[in-house]
Amino acid sequence: MAEIKFVETKNFKTKPDVSKIGFGTQFTDYMFEMDYNPQEGWHDPRIVPYRDLSVSPANTTLHYGQAIFDGLKAYLHGDKPVIFRASDHMRRLNVSAKILDIPEVPFDVALAGLKKLVAIEKAWIPKEKGQSLYIRPFIFANDDYLGVNVSKNYKFLIILSPVAAYYAHGFAPVKIMVEDTYVRAVRGGLGAAKTPANYAASLHAGLVAHQKGYDQTLWLDGVERKYVEEVGSMNILFKINGEVITPSVEDGSILNGITRRTVLAVAKDWGVPAVERKISIDEVIQAHENGTLEEVFGSGTAAVISPVAVLAYKGKEYVINNGKVGEFTQKMYDCIEGIHVGEVEDKFGFIEAAE
Ligand code: COI
Repeated sequence: MAEIKFVETKNFKTKPDVSKIGFGTQFTDYMFEMDYNPQEGWHDPRIVPYRDLSVSPANTTLHYGQAIFDGLKAYLHGDKPVIFRASDHMRRLNVSAKILDIPEVPFDVALAGLKKLVAIEKAWIPKEKGQSLYIRPFIFANDDYLGVNVSKNYKFLIILSPVAAYYAHGFAPVKIMVEDTYVRAVRGGLGAAKTPANYAASLHAGLVAHQKGYDQTLWLDGVERKYVEEVGSMNILFKINGEVITPSVEDGSILNGITRRTVLAVAKDWGVPAVERKISIDEVIQAHENGTLEEVFGSGTAAVISPVAVLAYKGKEYVINNGKVGEFTQKMYDCIEGIHVGEVEDKFGFIEAAE
């Protein structure tokens, strides 16, 4: 495996009070960096002082968006830095790479680079519950060229950001607007990749939802506007009549969320039926009307578990569980957060040591 170089800094930043900085606003002293060109492939893995980048105004990513990212989190177990599902996240980065025709990064180098970076930056991992060190690996095309083609050169970076809860109001129920005008992704498109295009596609609808007083949009499928897909920064799960249901990812238009997979694994371990299948918005509304829609919640690395209090659809608001956090949602959040911080036994092998 290629050696990971370490270039030290002498200019250390003052560490912030994480309870005051929200999500993704501050970055640590170092970052991981690696480059790709057709002659050398992925080469020169290194940990270097965090800095601004300089790119050509003709940089292909700025114009055509050939880029991918992922998001994961590190915690302290005692004084040991650990990362939640590090290998699964790095595998998913390569799934996104394939979809965008980006050369896959060597898994062992990427994972070793990630762990080494987190170990070096251990002092940045917040100790408070509900806080963590958010890890953002990303790859972008780095050609200077205005032709529309798959690029030849790429840069892979990992940056770290100490974070509190993703939503400013923390673990509190959110209001979600079911979006039936705009779409995020379609079958055959990029929906399964963590790529900027999917987030760009969500911005306008997100703004409209905010203006109407909602926290997020719930996307429906792009063909029939009938089946529930995801929330954009989270996957979505319903508890209907004792069963947990989340939209299946087989059409390739939904992100195969790692927290979503964690929820399914934990639910099955508890003996709660948990299925991935197509679920239409009409089925959700009908379940609400006949009293079987027990709980709705989102899942994602940034948000962890986010209870949903209200779903708005076609001008009508449907209040879930009287607007309160459901029992199952709370238990799932406590369990996953407990595994994160080492207070709940990790039967699943999700926690990976960084050093
Ligand atoms: C994550 O949950 O890690 C995400 O990528 C969601 C969002 C912050 C883009």
